Amino acid sequence: MWDAARPCTPWRVVARTGTLYAAVAESPVEVATTDTVGPAADHVQAELGTVRAPGSVDELQRLLRDRAYLADRGLATSILLALSLNQPLLLEGEAGVGKTEVAKALSSVFGAELVRLQCYEGIDANQALYEWDFTRQLLYARAIQESGDEKAEQIFSPRFLQERPLLKALRLGDRAVLLIDEIDRADDEFEAFLLEVLSDFQVTVPELGTIHAERPPLVILTSNRTRELHDALKRRCLYHWIDYPDLPHEVEIVKTRAPDVPDVLAAKVAHAVGHLRNMDLVKKPGVSESITWARALQVLGLDDLDADAAEATLGSVLKDHEDLVEVRENLQRVLGG
Ligand SMILES: Nc1ncnc2c1ncn2[C@@H]1O[C@H](COP(=O)(O)OP(=O)(O)OP(=O)(O)O)[C@@H](O)[C@H]1O
Ligand SMILES: [Mg+2]
Repeated sequence: MWDAARPCTPWRVVARTGTLYAAVAESPVEVATTDTVGPAADHVQAELGTVRAPGSVDELQRLLRDRAYLADRGLATSILLALSLNQPLLLEGEAGVGKTEVAKALSSVFGAELVRLQCYEGIDANQALYEWDFTRQLLYARAIQESGDEKAEQIFSPRFLQERPLLKALRLGDRAVLLIDEIDRADDEFEAFLLEVLSDFQVTVPELGTIHAERPPLVILTSNRTRELHDALKRRCLYHWIDYPDLPHEVEIVKTRAPDVPDVLAAKVAHAVGHLRNMDLVKKPGVSESITWARALQVLGLDDLDADAAEATLGSVLKDHEDLVEVRENLQRVLGG
C-alpha cells in the first residue's frame, strides 16, 4: 500500500502552539517523530554544515578565495553583515559580475545546501513554496479506506507536501544558503509574497499553520535591474552593488578561474575588456566573458592578444552583432590604448 522506496522529506514539527509550527531541520541521525507511518520515519539526511558569520572580513575573503571566488572588501563586508544580522542580502550589478556565483561559493564555504529559486515572469507561490502531492494523498486515502484505519486527518500532514525551494530553505534553516536569483524577472505580486519570508523567515501553509525557521538560512537575492524593486523588499535586505572589478582584481580572477592561462595573456585580456566596457556597447562583457576569452585564446594556442587573435576569438566576449561590428572597427584602440 505504501511506496517505501520513494524518498520523502523528513519533517519534525516542534513547539506546536495553536497553529504555530516551528520547522527545524532534522539532524543526520534523527528521524521524523510526528509521522510514524511511512517512509519519512526511515529517511536519514546527509550531514550539512552550518552557516555562521566568520570572525572577520579578512577571514571570509580567505574562505571564499579557497573556493575560487575573489570577493573585494566591500562585498565581503556586506556578506559578513548579512550573516551577523540575519538579514537577506540583495546583490545588484551588471551581468556576469559574480552575483550568482557568490551564493554558490558561500554554500561551499559552509558545507551548506544551496537552495536556488530561479525567478521568472509568472512564477507563483506554488512553484516557490510547496504543493500538495494529490496523487499520494489519494492513494493514502484509498489505502486507509481499505484497511479501515481512521487516520484520514493526516492527509494534510507535512509528508504530503512537495516542498519547493522556499519551504526547503526554511526547513533546513541555517544549514542552507537560499539563493533567490534574478528577482527582477518575477512579477510584483511574487515580490510581495516574498516579504513574509524575508522579514520573519516564515511561511504560512493554510492547512498546517505557520512554518518558521528558528535559525534562518543565509538569503542572497540577485537582480540585474531590468526593473526597479519595491521599497518594501529593499527595506528587508542589506544591499550591495557589485561593480566590475578593477584591473588587478580582474586579472587575479581570470588567473584563479583559468590557471593555465599565462599571466601576460590574462593581463592583456583584462585590459582589453576594460576598454570594451568603456565603449557604448549593447552588451558589455562581464567577468565571465573575460575568463572565457582568456580560455578561448589559450585553447587556440595563442599566447598574445594581437589583432588577429582578437579577431578570431571576439565571439567569446561579445554577443551582439552591432557590438562586433563596432569593436572590429576600433580593434587597435581596444587592444592598444
Ligand atoms: N569575484 C569573482 N571571483 C571568481 N569568479 C568570478 C567572480 N566574479 C565572476 N566570476 C566568474 O564569472 C562567472 C559568472 O558569474 P555569475 O554567473 O555569478 O554572474 P552574474 O552576476 O550572476 O551574472 P548574470 O546577471 O548574467 O546572472 C562565474 O561562473 C565565475 O566563473
Ligand atoms: Mg546570475
